[in-house]
Amino acid sequence: MPKPYTPNDKWSQKATAEGYRARSVYKLIELDEKFRLIHPGMTVLDLGAAPGSWLQYTAQKVGPKGTVIGVDLTEIEPIEGAQTFVADITDNKALEKILPAHVGLILSDLAPKTSGIQDIDQWKSIELSQAVLAVARERLKPGGVCVIKVLRGADFDEFLRDAKKEWADVRTFSAKASRDRSKEIYVLLVL
Ligand SMILES: C[S@@+](CC[C@H](N)C(=O)[O-])C[C@H]1O[C@@H](n2cnc3c(N)ncnc32)[C@H](O)[C@@H]1O
Repeated sequence: MPKPYTPNDKWSQKATAEGYRARSVYKLIELDEKFRLIHPGMTVLDLGAAPGSWLQYTAQKVGPKGTVIGVDLTEIEPIEGAQTFVADITDNKALEKILPAHVGLILSDLAPKTSGIQDIDQWKSIELSQAVLAVARERLKPGGVCVIKVLRGADFDEFLRDAKKEWADVRTFSAKASRDRSKEIYVLLVL
């Protein structure tokens, strides 16, 4: 039986104690520890970045020679070492003005506004993931990596199959810090 959702769980408490804006930072830390994603001096895009815990962690890791850019529909309170923009990641015109080329790493923890209907939410997650892949095709440099959170559902297998045809390496990762009842999985793609 999955455990019930408890808003004040150990990850939330740890995030507050360590000065991170969201518990989701521990998912990025797990991903980074497993795949060695973030290095000093890198250029990193974080799509769906509010309130900014991934930006906090990434800005520290890339250091002063790196570039970290966060985009979200919601305004992000300033974070040292990160640039932030309010934009819809499906709006190509808006993105053209703010996103650089030759990016080493694209992160997406994007979550659609939930409707309460599981199939619809999962489909919206796939749609957002497709938008991230469109950005990645244009902005990633050769050998660059893209990490996308996807809600697993009926369309997930097809999404993964198509990704494997296009990308040099595709892996999936379930984070311990994801809530027990969550359908979320991280897909890592290498260009
Ligand atoms: C789970 S939160 C991200 C948490 C973030 N990784 C952190 O550590 O603080 C998901 C975010 O995706 C954003 N989002 C959803 N759809 C979006 C879209 N079309 N364009 C930009 N951001 C979007 C939401 O506004 C929300 O802030």
